[in-house]
This record gives sequence, structure tokens and C-alpha cells, in this order.
Amino acid sequence: MQDRFTFATKLHSTEIARIGVFDSGVGGLTVLQEIYRQLPQESVLYFGDTARVPYGTRSATEILQFTRQTLEWMVAQQVKMAIMACNTSSALALETVRAEYDLPILGVILPGARTAARYGRRIGVIATPATVNSNAYLHAISEANPNAQVWQVACPEFVPIVENNRIAAPETLKIAQDYLQPLLDRSIDTLVYGCTHYPHLEPVFRQFVPPSIQFVNPAVAVVAAAAKELQVLGIQNRLRPLPTEFFVSGDPAQFTHIAAQWLPTVPAVRQISLSNTSVSEPLDIG
Ligand code: DGL
Repeated sequence: MQDRFTFATKLHSTEIARIGVFDSGVGGLTVLQEIYRQLPQESVLYFGDTARVPYGTRSATEILQFTRQTLEWMVAQQVKMAIMACNTSSALALETVRAEYDLPILGVILPGARTAARYGRRIGVIATPATVNSNAYLHAISEANPNAQVWQVACPEFVPIVENNRIAAPETLKIAQDYLQPLLDRSIDTLVYGCTHYPHLEPVFRQFVPPSIQFVNPAVAVVAAAAKELQVLGIQNRLRPLPTEFFVSGDPAQFTHIAAQWLPTVPAVRQISLSNTSVSEPLDIG
């Protein structure tokens, strides 16, 4: 018979802990959707740093600082794994924080780059300015397939468009065409969403991108990698999954309003402040 001690230990065991998923805003929902599809038995804690979105035009020091603050908080919430559902953090902070935290941490770039390198020879990457400047995709794709040609375009206007719910606005189509035209001119065969916000814009891209061009959403590959990692570590959830918990640093009502269009139910969103979370380096305000 199970005594109270065994039951308490089991309740706090790693298997039933949540997977932490984070992004600067609603972009990580494209990864959450993949978790619902590929890992429906898992419970998730989602954090969107909406008070500080966008990350993609910030310095590497700031991005590392924000990523550390989020991970500190997630560790305190006892997540069993963290998925950095943000390419910008993955490009600029993943390697550093992996060495700092005793937690499996997955980033989106390597899984996305490997998928692209498998399918494409002429690969276009659209991403935030910080991700493009890091050349993280360029290096990862070239390593996976030295014969692949890669072109990158920074699209700073896309994240504000998605966060402010302007996807269907008439000017968005024109902005998207202007960003993607240089890649279409290169006759790309593959287009990588190098920012997790961008799959939300797919209805816009579909209006003018030729159907022969393959879209690569790194969310698919990162969740497949997470599934493998959970299995290897023996920490898959074997009990009933809990409803996803949503937290943001900005306005919960705005997040709820925007996120509801992509989620099966209207999310209950709470606000937290990460500014008091202890971190190892000061912000670079220069
Ligand atoms: N969605 C994130 C990414 O994948 C961050 C975008 C931003 O905040 O600029 O890069």
C-alpha cells in the first residue's frame, strides 16, 4: 500500500513536473501548439515576456539577462525541462545558460536548421535583426549541409505586427512582400521561420509565396527533440496532464485577447515581474 511519504514524493517527482516554454510574447505559442500535437500528455508552464517584447532589436547583453531571469523563475517553479521558444534567445543565450543551469534546456535553432538542411539547397531564413546578425542559422545550416546556400533577411516589423494583432491589416501583406522579395529573387526552395512569431503570419505569406517553396517551422523539430529527451531522461509524464499555466510580464488582458485565436480555450493569464529575480550580470545600458 502507498504510504503518505511515497505519495508526497511522487507528487513532486520530475515526471509530473511541467515543461517550461518561454518567448518574448505570443511567438512561443507556435511551439505550444506543437507540444499539444506531439506531446499531449505533458503539462506546460508558458511565459511571455511581453513587458520587454521585442527581443530582436535588443543587445546580446540584454537578451542574456532576460533569458537568465526567466530561467531563474522557471527553476523556482520546478519545471523539469525548459524550451526556449524564442530564436533570438536561442541564438544569443542558449550556449551560455546551458552551462549555468542544472536543467535540460532546448533551443529552436539547431533543430530548425537541421530540418532545413535536409530538405533545402537554396534556403531563405527570415528572423529578427539580432538572430540574423548572430548568423546562428547560417552556421548551423552550413554545418548540417555544406552544399546548401543560405540567405537571411531581418524582418523587424513582423513581431510588433503579431503582438498588436495586425496580421490581417492591409499593409501587412505589402510589408511581407517587401521583406521576402529578395529571397524569392534568389529562387529559394525553402523558407525557414527563424522567429517563432512568424508562423502566425503564414496566411499572409501563402498569398504570394509560390507553393513550391517549403516552409520550415522549427517548432516541429524542437518538440520532436524534446520528446526524445524526455524519453532518454525517463521523465515523461505518465499521469493526467494539467491545464497549461500562462504568465506574462506585461498586460495579461492583451495577451489573452491575442492568444485566444490560436488556442483551444481562452487562456487564464497571470502577470509576474521578473525584475527582482537575481541575476549574475547587470544590464548593459549603453
Ligand atoms: N519570437 C522570438 C524569436 O523567435 C522573439 C521575437 C522578438 O521578441 O523580437 O526570435
